[in-house]
Amino acid sequence: MQDFSFSTVKTIINELGSCHRQLGTIAKSLAITRVLVVTDAGIVQSGMIEPALASLTAMGVVSVVYTDVVADPPEIVVERALTFAREQQIDGVIGLGGGSSMDVAKVIALLTKSSQSLQEVYGVGNAKGTRLPLIQIPTTAGTGSEVTPISIITTGETTKQGIVSPLLIADVALLDAELTVGLPSHVTAATGIDAMVHAIEAYTSQHRKNPYSDLLACEALRLLSKHIVTAVEDGHNLIARSAMLYGAMLAGQAFANAPVAAVHALAYPLGGHYHISHGLSNSLVLPHVLRFNLPNAVQAYAELAHVVNPYARAKPITLAEYFIEAMQTLISAVKIPTTLRQLNVPETDLPMLAKDALLQQRLLMNNPRLVTEVDALAIYQAAY
Ligand SMILES: NC(=O)c1ccc[n+]([C@@H]2O[C@H](COP(=O)([O-])OP(=O)(O)OC[C@H]3O[C@@H](n4cnc5c(N)ncnc54)[C@H](O)[C@@H]3O)[C@@H](O)[C@H]2O)c1
Ligand SMILES: [Fe+2]
Repeated sequence: MQDFSFSTVKTIINELGSCHRQLGTIAKSLAITRVLVVTDAGIVQSGMIEPALASLTAMGVVSVVYTDVVADPPEIVVERALTFAREQQIDGVIGLGGGSSMDVAKVIALLTKSSQSLQEVYGVGNAKGTRLPLIQIPTTAGTGSEVTPISIITTGETTKQGIVSPLLIADVALLDAELTVGLPSHVTAATGIDAMVHAIEAYTSQHRKNPYSDLLACEALRLLSKHIVTAVEDGHNLIARSAMLYGAMLAGQAFANAPVAAVHALAYPLGGHYHISHGLSNSLVLPHVLRFNLPNAVQAYAELAHVVNPYARAKPITLAEYFIEAMQTLISAVKIPTTLRQLNVPETDLPMLAKDALLQQRLLMNNPRLVTEVDALAIYQAAY
């Protein structure tokens, strides 16, 4: 058997209603007495905060709420949140929201009591010391940030940087699918495709793919591909919502250990330049990257075809092509835009996007096929 090491969150609680019922007890078990809840305005509007705060209060845990996270959090937003946190005498952090809120919560837990600056911790393994106790509660079924050692910050007009450190792995991930019931259908669709991409790219990751990450990626893709259309069409279906939330978490565990590749590398410039959401950016390029990768990924995609349809029988190349078609069909079924043209991306920008995508070597090195600037341009043209 191949050698590997694997890390994840120590405690995962997957239970409907657990945010309201258990959050206070969990905070208490981590010896938290005064906690900062990190979230965004959309979550506040949805009314999800009150039950969480009531649970904390019931157990005598004082809560302070920071509500100013924005999607794809820019550095300035993170710095402001950090300044706020340092004034609050907190001894614990809760991230409540999508990847944006959870990623900011990670940085706050890491840096509130640290002498390191945000700039010093970008990159892999640069964070030092310890962090405050951290509970992550996802409200989208997408990023898997609740179990990853990664925080993604927007550092310039159009660029993102990651902080990657075992210190960012939370103490507790609390999965309560009731929190995702009000997620709008287009966000359900885009974040769900993001989670599927995590599973697919983990399964074909060139460096740290291993039997354990494969197991997680396959089960994630099985659940996500089976339930995404129902979750989009019937947001109150708790079976579909639970499967999506659990599937997204499994995909997070998979890619935290076998990192993502060209789909994410080509998606990032779309988010950076046009503020297209992370999930939608991934969805727009997914079928075209899969087609590009096909010559080097026949076996892997054929295996994934069996995951989405256990009854499929054909030779590997036919199965691999079937898998790509199946992903394209799912993207159409969840009714989100499928071309860059629909999102008013100027066609003349494509060469600039290709140049930008090539800067993401941290991700491209995991891709099953080498991507040149010419290749990236051809993929964007196919997505146009
Ligand atoms: N840390 C990681 O491992 C990792 C992995 C992938 C992506 N990311 C990052 O995560 C961010 C994207 O996160 P995301 O896709 O989860 O979206 P998000 O956190 O940006 O949220 C998107 C929108 O959905 C709203 N929302 C979230 N949950 C809701 C709910 N239950 N009901 C109603 N509205 C709700 C939010 O208010 C927000 O307006 C990006 O910055 C991306 O780079 C991080
Ligand atoms: Fe992603």
